[in-house]
Amino acid sequence: MGGRAAPGWIVNAAFNLDTRIEAVLDRFLPDPAQPPQTLHRAMRYSVLGGGKRYRPRLVYATGCLLGLPQTLLDYPAAAVELIHAYSLIHDDLPAMDDDDERRGKPSCHRAYNEATAILAGDALQTLAFEVMASIPRDGCHPESILRAVHALAEASGTQGLVGGQQLDLEAVSRPLELVELTEMHLRKTGALIRASILIPVLLAPDPGEVPIQHLTRLSRDLGLAFQIRDDILDATADAGTLGRKPGGDASHHRATFVTLLGLEEARNRLAHSIAQCREALSIFGPEAHPLRALVDDRAE
Ligand code: IPE
Ligand code: IPE
Ligand code: MG
Ligand code: MG
Ligand code: MG
Repeated sequence: MGGRAAPGWIVNAAFNLDTRIEAVLDRFLPDPAQPPQTLHRAMRYSVLGGGKRYRPRLVYATGCLLGLPQTLLDYPAAAVELIHAYSLIHDDLPAMDDDDERRGKPSCHRAYNEATAILAGDALQTLAFEVMASIPRDGCHPESILRAVHALAEASGTQGLVGGQQLDLEAVSRPLELVELTEMHLRKTGALIRASILIPVLLAPDPGEVPIQHLTRLSRDLGLAFQIRDDILDATADAGTLGRKPGGDASHHRATFVTLLGLEEARNRLAHSIAQCREALSIFGPEAHPLRALVDDRAE
C-alpha cells in the first residue's frame, strides 16, 4: 500500500511529543488549588512528570497513519494515559502488588494514603471518560465518538484491564496454563494497548478495510508483546530502569511468562510477537514510521 504521507505535524512535532502529552494531561487534570486539593494533588502526582507515555504515543502514531489532526488526538491520547495512571495507582496498593515505588518515586498510597490513592484512581478513571465525551463534534462524527467511548470502556472493564487484574490475582494460588496466562496478559495490559490503536481507527472518517485488519492484528500482538517485555524486565532490569524494586513478580509468586516458561522462552515469545507486529505494518509506507518506532521500542 504505502499511499498516505505522514502529516507535517508528526514530522515537526515528534521531537516535542513529550511536551505536548504533558501539556495536554495538565490541561485536563483538575486544578490543584481547587477543593478537594489533596485529591487533585494526588491525581496530578501520579499522572504528571513520569512514565514512557507509550499509550498516548500509540494514539498519535496511529492517528498520524490515518491522517487525523493532532488536536483531535489529544483527547483519546490523554484518556488512555489517565486510565493507565489510575490502573497503576490501584495496581500498587497493598491489597494488589503492594509496591512502594512507581516511576522512580513513592507510589501514590505512600506519598498520600491508601484511601486517597483509591479515590485518585477512581477520579482518574471517570476523568478519562469525561475527556472522551468532550471530543469536539466538529472534528468527528458523534457516532464515531460513541464507538470510541465504548471501545475505551470495554478495554477498561471486566473483558479488559480490570478482568485481567482479577485473573492475575487468582493466578497466584494455582499454576497457570500458557493459554490462560496469555489471556490474562491480553486483558490486563493488552486491552488498553489495543484500544490505543483502535480508537483512532474508530475516529477516522474512512480508514479502509485492509488498514483496519492490519491495525487490529498489530493491536493484539503489540499488547501481548508489551506485557511479556514487562515480565522480562521485572526479572532482569535494575531499579533505575524499572523505577521501582525489581523481582517483585517472582517474590510475590506471580504468574508471568518468565516464571512459567523461563527467561529464554519468554524472550522467544516476545521476539515472535514483535515479528508479527512488524509483519502487520509491512503493508504501510512511511506514514507508519512512528508506529514502527513504537514496535521497535518494545523489542529487546
Ligand atoms: C507498566 O506500564 C504496567 C503495565 C501495564 C505493564 P508502562 O511500562 O507503560 O509504565 P509507564 O507508564 O512507562 O510508567
Ligand atoms: C500491571 O501489571 C497491569 C495493570 C496495571 C493493569 P504489572 O503489575 O505487571 O505492572 P508493573 O510491573 O507493576 O508496572
Ligand atoms: Mg500487577
Ligand atoms: Mg504491579
Ligand atoms: Mg510487571
